[in-house]
Amino acid sequence: MKTVLVTGGAGFIGSNFVHYLLENRNDLHVVVLDKLTYAGNLKNLSRWEKDSRFSFEKGDIAEKNDVLAVFQKYSIDWIAHFAAESHVDRSILGPEEFVRTNVVGTFVLLETARTTWNQNFEGKRFLHVSTDEVYGTLGESGFFTEETPYAPNSPYSASKAGSDHLVRSYFHTYGMPVVTTNCSNNYGPFHFPEKLIPLMILNCLHGKNLPVYGDGKNIRDWLFVKDHCSAIALALEKGRAGETYAVGTRNEKNNLEIVETICKIMDEHFPEKAPHSKLIQFVKDRPGHDFRYAIDPSKIEKELGWKPVYSFEKAIRDTIQWYLENEDWWKEILSGKYQEYYSSQYDTGK
Ligand code: NAD
Ligand code: DAU
Repeated sequence: MKTVLVTGGAGFIGSNFVHYLLENRNDLHVVVLDKLTYAGNLKNLSRWEKDSRFSFEKGDIAEKNDVLAVFQKYSIDWIAHFAAESHVDRSILGPEEFVRTNVVGTFVLLETARTTWNQNFEGKRFLHVSTDEVYGTLGESGFFTEETPYAPNSPYSASKAGSDHLVRSYFHTYGMPVVTTNCSNNYGPFHFPEKLIPLMILNCLHGKNLPVYGDGKNIRDWLFVKDHCSAIALALEKGRAGETYAVGTRNEKNNLEIVETICKIMDEHFPEKAPHSKLIQFVKDRPGHDFRYAIDPSKIEKELGWKPVYSFEKAIRDTIQWYLENEDWWKEILSGKYQEYYSSQYDTGK
């Protein structure tokens, strides 16, 4: 039985990854370390509460003592590192926490692993979950690959770039078996409603404006979170040490297309409120807004045999269905602190 430490396992992708591991493997003990920031939610993991293969530890990856305590309590074999401040708009409003968690936190985790493992890395793995945003922006053509030079444009992506460089250095300097994945925009269940897709679904439900930044022509390459989880599991176990893998499903859409797709599906669910597209409102653009992200995933496909299995057309419907069926989950989030963030970001009290 191997013990896998999942940092940030109470967040969106981390919790989907915990579900993926525990649903698909019987040979793993999953230990989640999470600070439970505004984005972390224990409810995301509640179905595993009584499962002996699952443990939860509340702690901050940027606090040495918190991380060390986990390494002393469990014999950690593999690490899947998701914990981060992840929202670009919040990094523009307040970058400090991004540097603390994403850069310092990743360093503390690497250093605690290196010293606890005593530089004996036999059977050990450190998988760092990063983003395609570290590569900056693309024009109308071309794709990000593992060879694309780093050019981050937001405090969020700069902090993730910093963490990627630290991870790389632990391979080259200490021989730690690290693997980094750089993926495109995820969507799916448990996605915090500050991000484009869940925000638009919930605003449609509440008859609120759908705030599209700029002209809505910015392009993202949407990856269903369950496909991302299978890629991470593969890279964690089989990825070559010191390598990076770009993860995406060749699914480019501009933001307006995404919002209009959500509106059409919401029209089917609630014909009496159609057309939801009347709620679309173009608002001021995000500063430093990257124009286009697009991933060439050939390396992970060829080298590790990764195959995504979800189509966008079905997965976006399933995602909307999940939000319709999980009102208790998002109702709690939409109250309190989230409203303060929403008002400061969108300049509205609504
Ligand atoms: P999220 O914001 O939903 O969750 C982050 C989790 O990390 C939360 O549970 C939070 O409580 C925890 N956390 C934050 N600071 C912490 C700290 N100091 N110590 C311990 N835990 C802490 O993020 P997400 O969307 O699930 O993203 C997960 C990872 O994937 C991040 O590293 C992010 O950069 C990366 N990523 C996300 C996307 C995406 O589309 N969401 C795409 C590419 C890469
Ligand atoms: O590319 C991977 C990245 O994807 C991850 O590293 C980040 O953690 C994740 O948050 C995501 O970043 P984005 O900035 O691309 O995601 P977001 O959902 O915030 O925005 C997607 C696009 O939609 C972007 O072009 C901005 C736009 N947008 C977003 C919001 C929240 C709007 O037009 N209106 C909005 O209200």
